[in-house]
Amino acid sequence: MVREWDPRTASSAEIASLLDTLNAVLAADLPQDPPWRESSLREYLAEVMPGERRIAWIAQGEPAADGTPGAVLGQVHVLLLGNIGVLEVLVHPSVRRNGLGRDLVLRAARRVYQEGFESIGVEVVGDTPAVAFYESLGFSREYVETRSVLDLSSVDWAELAEMSTGVGAGYRIQFHPGGPPDELIEAYARAKAETQDLEDGELRPSSYDPQRLRDSLDCLHRRGMQPYIVLALHQQTGAVAGLTEVVVPAQHPTRADQYDTIVVQDHQGNGIDRAMKARMLLELRSAEPQLTEVQTWNAQANESMLKVNAELGYRTDRDWCEYSIDVAELVHRLDATR
Ligand SMILES: CC(C)(COP(=O)(O)OP(=O)(O)OC[C@H]1O[C@@H](n2cnc3c(N)ncnc32)[C@H](O)[C@@H]1OP(=O)(O)O)[C@@H](O)C(=O)NCCC(=O)NCCS
Repeated sequence: MVREWDPRTASSAEIASLLDTLNAVLAADLPQDPPWRESSLREYLAEVMPGERRIAWIAQGEPAADGTPGAVLGQVHVLLLGNIGVLEVLVHPSVRRNGLGRDLVLRAARRVYQEGFESIGVEVVGDTPAVAFYESLGFSREYVETRSVLDLSSVDWAELAEMSTGVGAGYRIQFHPGGPPDELIEAYARAKAETQDLEDGELRPSSYDPQRLRDSLDCLHRRGMQPYIVLALHQQTGAVAGLTEVVVPAQHPTRADQYDTIVVQDHQGNGIDRAMKARMLLELRSAEPQLTEVQTWNAQANESMLKVNAELGYRTDRDWCEYSIDVAELVHRLDATR
């Protein structure tokens, strides 16, 4: 049975059952990834940025003879933002290839269409069944990034300490757990806005104006995700010359996610990228002692960043692709194959 589902009012048993399915999916498709925990999972699913909406459905197995509700065997949610719906679908490995994935996509696609949105986008992990699944539904590949993972046990901390100080004269590297301080929010947002062009194709929303940046930090906190920021301050002008962002999610606190890393064009060539990332790892070592890995995503074209990541010890993991499709076309295609 598939039904619309609101994580804010869902029972604890449903949240726990969804977590079991998510971890079964990870074990089948991404066995090297750490399993998720229940901490803040409800908030992770429920909280959104102002102006955005997430709508979800679950597929539940049959109830037991004593009335105990069936397990959550599948889930779809769609995040409505701008003119796009960003989709996520999960089907428990034990019930795959029975049409449930397609059925869940149809539910979400119909709603996205009714709400007047134009297209649907989805992140698809390379070398998993999701690639053939979305291609069979007519989605096309728009953008590819490579995920890399750094195993912190392989890091040479003394070398890293050296790297963290190797920045050109006139710059100060600063660490800010929780987000940039209020007096730097404007300069921080400006640095992000200047490099906006480089981030075309991202489904992950970035924050280019001060209010959106504040909202985005607030949203991360509400979702149980702790942001850490290292920035390079150009002392002469007070400009933020570079920044790097890492988030430690309560749901998988041993593996952190690297978000944006930016060096503003005028300040490139001063060792800022390397120094900021090295400083970040040093700070995380004491701020988040349970952390064992950091994962990052880069476009293949971004050679300088890939080089720095390789120096830091990141190993290439797998492709991470963005697919999209016109909503009307998807609904039509799915209705026709029912
Ligand atoms: C992708 C996924 C949702 C598919 O669910 P599903 O219920 O098995 O999909 P369906 O049965 O509706 O499949 C529809 C079509 O997709 C294609 N397809 C799905 N899985 C496939 C596979 N493993 N190999 C080849 N084609 C596949 C087929 O064309 C299939 O039609 P068919 O079975 O009639 O041949 C499921 O594998 C899943 O949950 N994957 C994890 C997704 C994810 O987000 N992971 C992130 C963390 S890893």
